[in-house]
Amino acid sequence: MSSTQAGLEGVVVAETELSDVDGDRGQLIVRGYEIEDLVGRVSFDDVCALLWSGQLPEGAERDRWSAGIARGRCAAFELLPSLGNALTLPDGMDALRAAIGLLSSTGDVSRDANLVTGACAVFAAAWARRQRGQEPIAPDTSMTHAADYLHMLSGGPVASARVEALDAYLCCVVDHGLNASTLAARVVASTGSDLVSAVVAGIGALKGPLHGGAPGPVLDMLDDIGSPGRARPWLAEQVAAGRRIMGMGHRIYRVRDPRAAALEREAARLEASGKAGERLPLARIVEREAEALLAERHPERKLRANVEFYTAVLLEAIGIPRTLFSPTFAVSRVAGWCAHYDEQRRRGRLMRPLSTYVGPGRSTKYKVQSTK
Ligand code: COA
Repeated sequence: MSSTQAGLEGVVVAETELSDVDGDRGQLIVRGYEIEDLVGRVSFDDVCALLWSGQLPEGAERDRWSAGIARGRCAAFELLPSLGNALTLPDGMDALRAAIGLLSSTGDVSRDANLVTGACAVFAAAWARRQRGQEPIAPDTSMTHAADYLHMLSGGPVASARVEALDAYLCCVVDHGLNASTLAARVVASTGSDLVSAVVAGIGALKGPLHGGAPGPVLDMLDDIGSPGRARPWLAEQVAAGRRIMGMGHRIYRVRDPRAAALEREAARLEASGKAGERLPLARIVEREAEALLAERHPERKLRANVEFYTAVLLEAIGIPRTLFSPTFAVSRVAGWCAHYDEQRRRGRLMRPLSTYVGPGRSTKYKVQSTK
């Protein structure tokens, strides 16, 4: 293996019952359900219950799970005054990482999972409001997590079409095999460390533009392109300059990311309801042109739209500011990190992969000159 090939690609480092990604068939399974079956049919609170317990809740059980997450939001809101200047940091992911880092684990995984899941929504909303010079809004325990996130952001009544669309988004991205941030969280869990530390590691990995940081730049790209006629020349210039087209390509998928289709459908529904602008027609043209150009440039590699492409379109349609796109990803994925934390602690061992040493010392040894 050459140094450029070295990595964790294709290496199995954990067994999981949580989710599975089939990159050739474009299939994502979460706890036995295809993602298309969950999105738009169940709430994010239900999906948390599914991930954390293995079963979709019914009847009073649904309320019990929702109430647990709502308690987490309330507990997090009480902690806002003790977060120092964490939520004044200009970058939303820096602010979220700093604020979550100030939480203390209780050692009870269920309680901690509710707390960090509630806290991600409360802190992200409070950060966004502070950016606009507004006071934070207290959570409403009668609402689902998605509805309350939008309520804590805007302060006013929230259209049900927007809540449904956000619920769909949060369900869609909650877990995705051993992606980079989940691996980071599992490595921390494997050392026996606490859940809050694992979540902080996850946020750090998610921040990167090759992982959860792409949707903001996707929207910048659509803004820059502006009109359908400019799509091809704009993209061609980027590709010729060797730049990456954000929202395109995936390490695992060799076909279109199934989550892109689910989110595109939700964006279409929201735009048709008249509750959003009309970004979708341009986005579809940009996707088509980007796919064609990338196929010419990389015929050996199928570079198709990934989840972030239509995340950008959907979150904008919901009314979430683009600076809050990555933190909103964390509002969902935190539930996946919690489930992986629990699974790793129950079943896993210390993760200690190997590296291939390619520096000097094996055949050519350096000699230390004494400086004394
Ligand atoms: N635009 C242009 N070229 C791309 C590309 C993109 N979006 N994605 C991959 N490529 C090219 C690379 O430049 C590289 O070309 P080279 O061999 O000539 O240097 C080749 O494809 C392989 O890239 P590599 O980085 O090894 O592939 P990967 O499997 O690691 O890539 C991503 C996965 C997601 C990191 C990559 O597709 C990417 O950067 N996408 C844009 C960012 C994004 O949307 N991230 C969200 C992911 S959900």
